Amino acid sequence: MITGDFAESAPELPVPFHLVVRESAGSTNDELRALATAGGAHGLVLLALTQTSGRGRRGAAWLSTPDESLAFSMLVRPREPKALWPRLALATGLAVAEAIESFGPAAGIKWPNDVWIRGRKVAGILVEAGEDFVIVGIGINVNTRCFPAEIAHIATSLGLETGLTYSLPDVLGAVIGRFALRHHQIGGEFNEMLDSVRLRCVLTGVPVTLTTFSGTRTGIVEGIAAGGELMLRTANGIENLIQADEVRLSGRNNET
Ligand code: BTN
Repeated sequence: MITGDFAESAPELPVPFHLVVRESAGSTNDELRALATAGGAHGLVLLALTQTSGRGRRGAAWLSTPDESLAFSMLVRPREPKALWPRLALATGLAVAEAIESFGPAAGIKWPNDVWIRGRKVAGILVEAGEDFVIVGIGINVNTRCFPAEIAHIATSLGLETGLTYSLPDVLGAVIGRFALRHHQIGGEFNEMLDSVRLRCVLTGVPVTLTTFSGTRTGIVEGIAAGGELMLRTANGIENLIQADEVRLSGRNNET
């Protein structure tokens, strides 16, 4: 079913992507997971015009304003081995950054996959694996003009950055188009994909504090290693970090 803006101008999606639009959903990640478990096909995209329990990483809430932002999830059944699935987080961040750039502004990637414009977060990504599928959830501030006070200094939208108003279906189509090209690169062409991520990495050379499952690390980011890990120079030398719950830039006291 196609609803709202999407009824007038549903984006053309590359095969096999297929859009289902709901007026309202709790979390599109949760609802798509249920569809995946029931046998949903690779490429199914679930978009909610209103998301009532949107989730971010670390259990945070994700707020999205209807009509101004995109909240959707894609069902992926990767052909690549499961060990490579975590790379989808990088592939998705890159796809969103490239889609945003197709509308004008330069986009940065805050490893692993927050997307920034001029130092502020414009999109968040929540990738969750199931037994034989991955749910890739994406929230993008497209035309949002006003953010809650607690995140106003660290959040932005495509529209705020350019002063223009964008068609939500066009932005959705651009993201899925880039994702369709990038997601297979978690296998054979990962180096090529990483080079594009490195070009946009906003953390390189920056002092950070990371929270990982084994504790906190402080250091300066050297870059992104061959497997997609974050290379951190600490007092003990260089550490390659596969995963971090939180990456906090020194001097910034509130990251989303
Ligand atoms: C983050 O930056 O913490 C990740 C935010 C991810 C938000 C999206 S919105 C669509 C999908 N459904 C959810 O509940 N979360 C993701």
